[in-house]
Amino acid sequence: MTLHRLGADAGHHDVAASLDEHGYALVERVLPPADVDARRAALDELLEATPTGRNVFEGFRTQRVYAVFAKTRSFDDLAVHPLLLGALDHALGGHYQFSAPVALQIGAGESAQVLHRDEDVYPLPRPHDPVVVNSMWALCDFTARNGATRLVPGSHRWPEDRRPDESEAVPATMPAGSLLIYLGGLWHGGGANTTDRPRPGLLLEYVVSWLRPQETQLVAVPPDTVRRLPARLQELLGYNVFPPFLGYVDGRHPRRALDPDAARADDPLRQTAP
Ligand SMILES: [Fe+2]
Repeated sequence: MTLHRLGADAGHHDVAASLDEHGYALVERVLPPADVDARRAALDELLEATPTGRNVFEGFRTQRVYAVFAKTRSFDDLAVHPLLLGALDHALGGHYQFSAPVALQIGAGESAQVLHRDEDVYPLPRPHDPVVVNSMWALCDFTARNGATRLVPGSHRWPEDRRPDESEAVPATMPAGSLLIYLGGLWHGGGANTTDRPRPGLLLEYVVSWLRPQETQLVAVPPDTVRRLPARLQELLGYNVFPPFLGYVDGRHPRRALDPDAARADDPLRQTAP
């Protein structure tokens, strides 16, 4: 099976339509090669202090940089890239945050990850509307041999009792700088890396802001770091409110825990007060 592919000139509508129909959107060459090189150099620096995985799911030959927004400023703009935010708005509505942002490198010789759905960490009765969207920025060429993420196209619309067969998984091969976005209800898994070179990437997973993130960003990234970031990134790190007031701090918008002088107009309890 061949995957549906979009070019860097794709618009929000193209991405949304592909997500709806296939469960993923693959946008090729969003970042130019020189940009990819710079991101990869930033990742290499982080990997020097990062151990390999501790279990089969993490991968014993794979390095994962957790708490990534506490450790580097090199990926901030990718997290709020317009194509990605457009897809998130479409699939999750206007209120979401990071769940598990991870910079990672699948090492040479790593075996394939079991097929799974990212949404299944939440004990919600299915079917339900999407609550998770995941995204992968390719920081090298992703190939069938070096561990390209395997997708089961269309499986986000399967009946609940259907399980994928390995033969139904298609490697999401893509050139460096591409962006793969997929729904949390799509069956997928990391591929095996049978080459002698690592496969670096940036995996940014988002969840609706009425569910807790996999990694508690409010603890992972110190307030002194968050205070210096753009407001949109602060919101993605958990300084947000799901209407009418889920997430308040001391009766106020959590943003005011960072900056007591922040505008009071959007204080959630203030809005709902009689
Ligand atoms: Fe996954």
